[in-house]
Amino acid sequence: MGNLADKQIIVGVTGGIAAYKTAELVRQLRRAGAQVRVVMTAAAQAFVTPLSFQALSGHRVYCDMLDTEHESAMGHIELARWAHCLLIAPASADFIARIAHGHANDLLSTLCLATPADLFIAPAMNQQMWRNAAVQDNIDILKKRNLRILGPAEGEQACGDTGPGRMQEPFELLEALSLASASESPLQDCKVLITAGPTQEPIDPVRFISNRSSGKMGYALAQAMRDRGAQVVLVSGPVSRPPPPGIDVIAVRTAEEMYQAVIQALAGVNIFIGSAAVADYTPAQQYAEKIKKNGSVLELDLRPTKDILGSVATSAAPPFTVGFAAETTQLEKYARGKLENKQIDMIAANQVGTGRGGFYSDENSLLVIWKGGSQVFAMQNKVSLAQRLADLIVERYDEHKISGSL
Ligand code: C5P
Repeated sequence: MGNLADKQIIVGVTGGIAAYKTAELVRQLRRAGAQVRVVMTAAAQAFVTPLSFQALSGHRVYCDMLDTEHESAMGHIELARWAHCLLIAPASADFIARIAHGHANDLLSTLCLATPADLFIAPAMNQQMWRNAAVQDNIDILKKRNLRILGPAEGEQACGDTGPGRMQEPFELLEALSLASASESPLQDCKVLITAGPTQEPIDPVRFISNRSSGKMGYALAQAMRDRGAQVVLVSGPVSRPPPPGIDVIAVRTAEEMYQAVIQALAGVNIFIGSAAVADYTPAQQYAEKIKKNGSVLELDLRPTKDILGSVATSAAPPFTVGFAAETTQLEKYARGKLENKQIDMIAANQVGTGRGGFYSDENSLLVIWKGGSQVFAMQNKVSLAQRLADLIVERYDEHKISGSL
């Protein structure tokens, strides 16, 4: 499946100043749900300590071929077999030369020979070194062997030069691994429309009504659907997250703007996922000037907003519709009620207000209900939860198509 959840990845670090960026990469890989083991060459340890990578990967770092403790736990051949992919970042000119010529004089080069996993190389070196014919010949050798060369990027270098040789940024390397692992694309010809984040309903120029939604789940779901080959449009309320690569993001503020954006983007959509925490009420009147306090009670006249999910589900040619329900009590009862009332195909319900999971948290648990069944996803990181939910949505969507309901 095209995602990094539970992918077993070896990150090999060789000697180069870009090794500091690899620390961030390891953090991002773990946040994407991957299991990471770090292997460092002796030169790499002059730039970043194994302790840093141990803290970030959550595991002891492998540095030596002849480390009896490591060999008794997971020997180098076992480690080579464990990996689904091996990324060398940064890959120095020396290390590239060694693997091009089949050397096995340290743990990392030995792993490169011993692993059946896909190999990715992120070169990082001075621009003049990168342009050197010897380095280019070695890169050609690796390309012929189907190793994937990621970058290098062009730009300012740590040594003061400008040119090709900068290691790709962590998010670019993550993206490359994620796309490369998209071996299956079950949503190849699918258009998926997702709402995410909160809405803000203005009271006056400085105040608004909103909620604690961070957009984490919706953004993770958008990426999970993209990884499965879908063309994804994300209608997002105000959140402090960068737009995910490969996804069209339409930024909106109010529930009405979100409704209009969804209706306009709906043509040709196969799957609609309403993960936004849309405000249920909006002030009937928006004051042009800041409301002044005068010590007396202030009453706001609130009107219900349009139900975006319900409108999509009851449109002329509805897509497969998935809703969310955040409840403080009677989770299953309310979720089943919404499934029926809104006439949607599937609902993902989560308990909020319990102190763990829910809004703003990095983790969540879900009770997912559809007409013929249900499934519980235990408390876990929202990124891996989104991957699991995406698989279930694909499964139910396929079933829905087969049963001729679409
Ligand atoms: O109606 P309620 O807010 O309880 O249902 C939650 C589900 O409905 C979520 O999927 C949310 O995105 C969607 N919703 C919507 N438009 C609204 C209110 C909720 O799409 N105005």
